[in-house]
Amino acid sequence: MKKESKGARFTPSNYPEAVEANIQKYKREGIRLPMRHMLRTGEQLAGIRESAQINTALLEYISANIHEGMSTAEIDHMVYAFTTDHDAIPADFLYEGYTKSVCVSINDVVCHGVPSTKEFLKNGDIVNVDVSTIYKGYFSDASRMYLIGEVSPEMQRLVQISKECRDIGVATAQPWARLGDVGAAIQEHAEKNGYSVVQEFCGHGVGLKFHEDPDVEPIGKRGTGMMIVPGMTFTVEPMINMGRREIFIDEADGWTVCTDDGLPSAQWESMILITESGNEVLTE
Ligand code: MF3
Ligand code: CO
Repeated sequence: MKKESKGARFTPSNYPEAVEANIQKYKREGIRLPMRHMLRTGEQLAGIRESAQINTALLEYISANIHEGMSTAEIDHMVYAFTTDHDAIPADFLYEGYTKSVCVSINDVVCHGVPSTKEFLKNGDIVNVDVSTIYKGYFSDASRMYLIGEVSPEMQRLVQISKECRDIGVATAQPWARLGDVGAAIQEHAEKNGYSVVQEFCGHGVGLKFHEDPDVEPIGKRGTGMMIVPGMTFTVEPMINMGRREIFIDEADGWTVCTDDGLPSAQWESMILITESGNEVLTE
């Protein structure tokens, strides 16, 4: 499911000189640029690609097997088994005290839904499954929405528009654009469709660690924020609410993020590589 942009694939052997001149030019203009460690080398990129391929295969495996009536704990077991069978580790597992291998977020759960043997997928649910993989020390991260049985037209529309928000964000993440352009494009699309954007969570650099700089905000102003430079790898993962943008975190588990008004929320997440000619989706 790897998409490639038109033109040459980015390889670090062809980046330094071609990119360096632009970096120096924008530096003179006082524009915020990524630190060098945010630009991947060839060896790093090879490892990140392998990790991302396993992550995509895992999402395909979930797409083929998710079904009404299963518990969210079963999804957790599928993720753990598939990932370890591929000599990889679920990045969620034991991350900052999280004890599961995946986040499964249903309906009004915005993100970080914790799998449970007592929670079952039911007819009409919209479900986000967010998976992250560590392979040979390299990290990848993506999520998809799943429709369970017959979903109301209102909720189908939310799932569709949130996907468009992600896709518009990715399309805007071009070399020498700004991160504020990405946030602005996402926010505009959500709001013109009558939805709100969750502001407490954002996309992030990913590859050498799970969550790296920069933050990739789902809201913003055009022409502001860090310059997007070839060699960066980051996620685009806007959370879109049908109703109001406010959220709260469930005190019982300290993880589950819910909409304050109880209306549904949807999210799609891609991890991309910025190339000299555009971008390449590494996993989604
Ligand atoms: N996968 C999430 C992301 O997209 C992070 C989940 S952290 C966890 O960034 F601990 F909740 F798993
Ligand atoms: Co992420």
